[in-house]
Amino acid sequence: MTAAYDDVLDTPAATEAVGALIGRAWTGAGEPGCFVVLEGDLGAGKTTLMRGLLRALGEPGPIRSPTYTLLETYQPRPGRFVHHLDCYRIDGWDALQDIGFRDLLQPATLVAVEWPAKVPGLAARADLALRLEPVAERRRLHVLARTALGHALLPGRGHRREVKP
Ligand SMILES: Nc1ncnc2c1ncn2[C@@H]1O[C@H](COP(=O)(O)OP(=O)(O)OP(=O)(O)O)[C@@H](O)[C@H]1O
Ligand SMILES: [Mg+2]
Repeated sequence: MTAAYDDVLDTPAATEAVGALIGRAWTGAGEPGCFVVLEGDLGAGKTTLMRGLLRALGEPGPIRSPTYTLLETYQPRPGRFVHHLDCYRIDGWDALQDIGFRDLLQPATLVAVEWPAKVPGLAARADLALRLEPVAERRRLHVLARTALGHALLPGRGHRREVKP
């Protein structure tokens, strides 16, 4: 069963707070291997959400956009990893494998990808798929959970709805 959550985020802090909820839910789930995609146009707030997620996991250092480096890796606590990718400049599966994507999906590791649509079929594999859309000065958030782990990470307890696949 697929589950969804929709919200309107009034400020960057609200976007970070959603990331923090997902980060804490990942910790609550025992920090298993996890794959998240973040869709939305340039400046939609994808990296902002990741900043909230990483801070909630205890990452103390700077959180940089992977726009130019393609991949930023964090170890917020010993043995726990977060890989933050930006596929904006990646074109297809071969290019994604060239940066070692397959090796990133490991236990105790959360992999989050901005611009997953650059790699056909990638988003469909995600535990949790987030979409951010600017609406005036705010952001509309739409989240889909397709796996049991995704359900555990879905924000907005009490506001989620079940949708038919
Ligand atoms: N809910 C919100 N309301 C208003 N502004 C927001 C909100 N969330 C994030 N922003 C702002 O949107 C801007 C762009 O955010 P961010 O860099 O996270 O976007 P992005 O989706 O990662 O873009 P890119 O595709 O270029 O990497 C930032 O200035 C951020 O503060
Ligand atoms: Mg970004």
